[in-house]
Amino acid sequence: ASGLIGQGRMAEPETIVAFISSEISKTLPLRGKKILITAGPTHEVIDPVRFIGNHSSGKMGIAIAETASLLGANVVLVLGPSSIPVSEKNIHIVRVTTAQEMYDVVHQYYDATHIAICSAAVADFKPTTVSDEKIKKKSGQGMSLALEPTKDILASLGLLKKDQFLVGFALETQNELENSKKKLEKKNLDLIVLNSLRDKGAGFKGDTNKVTFIEKDNKVTPFDVKSKHEVARDILEHIITKINA
Ligand code: CTP
Repeated sequence: ASGLIGQGRMAEPETIVAFISSEISKTLPLRGKKILITAGPTHEVIDPVRFIGNHSSGKMGIAIAETASLLGANVVLVLGPSSIPVSEKNIHIVRVTTAQEMYDVVHQYYDATHIAICSAAVADFKPTTVSDEKIKKKSGQGMSLALEPTKDILASLGLLKKDQFLVGFALETQNELENSKKKLEKKNLDLIVLNSLRDKGAGFKGDTNKVTFIEKDNKVTPFDVKSKHEVARDILEHIITKINA
């Protein structure tokens, strides 16, 4: 290296970086795993200017996708209307608007997926008919909108499940544990992540979340308030432990 004896020439920095990243990637715990993640709200169209939506920002699901990618996974993120940027370059993002579009895309990828995490706040109802023209108000008259249920994406994945590790979220305002356990069983999940809207630091728009894990054997693990990226890490570490057990 002094230039006095032998070759001593440093390899090109790009070569060194490529070598290090390829060596590190071989040891990443989710290397070779395909993960399908849903995130964000869905918008159910009423007419060309209106929709039914909810307050989901997509932050939790995007944090899971980014963390999974950093842990070596091959990530497909099916993302409803969200303005949050996705920082990882290696994530395959499919943008959708409605619950039906999310359902269709998720089903294209599910069969080849090892782990599916449904964190999207999918609308439970959509207008029965979509008006091609903007609905005009009639003076002094109210309006009612006929709604029909959307397809439950997570439940449909539970029915088709073979070897996939399937994770759902539950957002509850009352009887949180009881309702979450019912959802876990009904939708054939391996893990349900409960966020209670009653907890400070939990919820849709913030950067933190407070979750409780509920497993198939009824094991309940509460966590402190953490950043959404830390929660994402806890979820993925749990999955890694389970799939390697
Ligand atoms: N979910 C879904 N498709 C739907 C509705 C919900 O995939 N059409 C998923 C969500 O992504 C979440 C889980 O189901 O992982 C729970 O959603 P939640 O709204 O809390 O529960 P619901 O099943 O809709 O039940 P309820 O409205 O009775 O609380």
